Amino acid sequence: MRVVVTGGAGYVGGFAAERLLELGHEVTVLDNLWRGNAGGVTKEAQFINVDLRDADGVLSALREARPEAVMHFAAATLVGESMGHPRSYFGVNVVGIPLDDQGMRMDALEKALTDLRGKGVTPKYTYTIPTVQNPTATIMPEARRTELLKLSQQYGVPVFEDDCYADLIWDGKRPPAIYAMDKSAGVIHVGSFSKSIAPALRVGFIVAPWAMMSRMLALKTDAGSGALEQMVLAEYCAPHFATHVPKLTRGLRAKLDTLMEALNEQFGTAAEFEDPKGGIFLWIKLPDNVDTLKLYQAALAAGVAINPGPEWSTDKAYSGSRLRLCFASPSHEEIRAGGAGLAEVCRKEFGVPERSANVEKRAST
Ligand SMILES: Cc1ncc(COP(=O)(O)O)c(C=O)c1O
Repeated sequence: MRVVVTGGAGYVGGFAAERLLELGHEVTVLDNLWRGNAGGVTKEAQFINVDLRDADGVLSALREARPEAVMHFAAATLVGESMGHPRSYFGVNVVGIPLDDQGMRMDALEKALTDLRGKGVTPKYTYTIPTVQNPTATIMPEARRTELLKLSQQYGVPVFEDDCYADLIWDGKRPPAIYAMDKSAGVIHVGSFSKSIAPALRVGFIVAPWAMMSRMLALKTDAGSGALEQMVLAEYCAPHFATHVPKLTRGLRAKLDTLMEALNEQFGTAAEFEDPKGGIFLWIKLPDNVDTLKLYQAALAAGVAINPGPEWSTDKAYSGSRLRLCFASPSHEEIRAGGAGLAEVCRKEFGVPERSANVEKRAST
């Protein structure tokens, strides 16, 4: 039977796809999130890269796959815009605001808000990941948060603060949440246990003024949130969260060191990046001639999953030679091997890095 498996809960979906393949079914995986997790599955299953929130894309992928059955797993839910969600979903017009090393640029935001006002448009909200931005890992300082709140009030545009990486800072120090600084009931704050405990639990939270929350609750049509996951979390977090997080961040920091070392060794100056203060991602600039959308295909074929820059930005010219690497899940060994594999593919496809800085390895082989 031709079966399509979809959904963001990669592990259970990947497990199901594997079993279906074993049973002799023809499997097509429909997702854009499984590259990392699908590993073995994608080798045998057909893989169609499509964002499940893109209704037209899903329909045309289904037409292509012609399934006799569809198996859907609950997908990760993302609301609004970030560098990571540049496309237009459900008719939403997303206006990208450039970032610098301190997060979203307030001069650029002010200009965009002024331009939109000139056109008679009041945006629904300003979406930001101020504390360890995804993918750039910047942390917005307190002064800039104050500026953001000022603009929010001045233009009557609420702030949507996505703080899901805020627990993952190496030194544990973070500026106050924008929600905590706000005095005008104009901020929606969201957090998640996906990054600190486990994405598969699908438990996150919203903190918002009642005027906003009451409207959101009225739209919540999923018959309630799962109680079991929350009970498990509560049981675990009460005695362990405070000690778990520093242990987790130490482990992440060590993996990041391995990744940066591997990239320096393999790419030399061809790969440029800042040393992130937290999170699970490294945002990398490769030479201008590298097209990371093409690199993504070639690297995947060689067993290395990368996130091409254009999937993370509204600015294609800026992001075309950039990529995001996640270092949370792979082992140190896999990170080193991945760095070497990626450099090899990149050299083959784009001629860079011209020579690996890994001189010892060359000399000894
Ligand atoms: C910025 C940002 N917000 C939200 C999410 C989704 O979190 P959750 O697993 O809680 O849906 C992600 C996941 O990658 C993310 O990067």
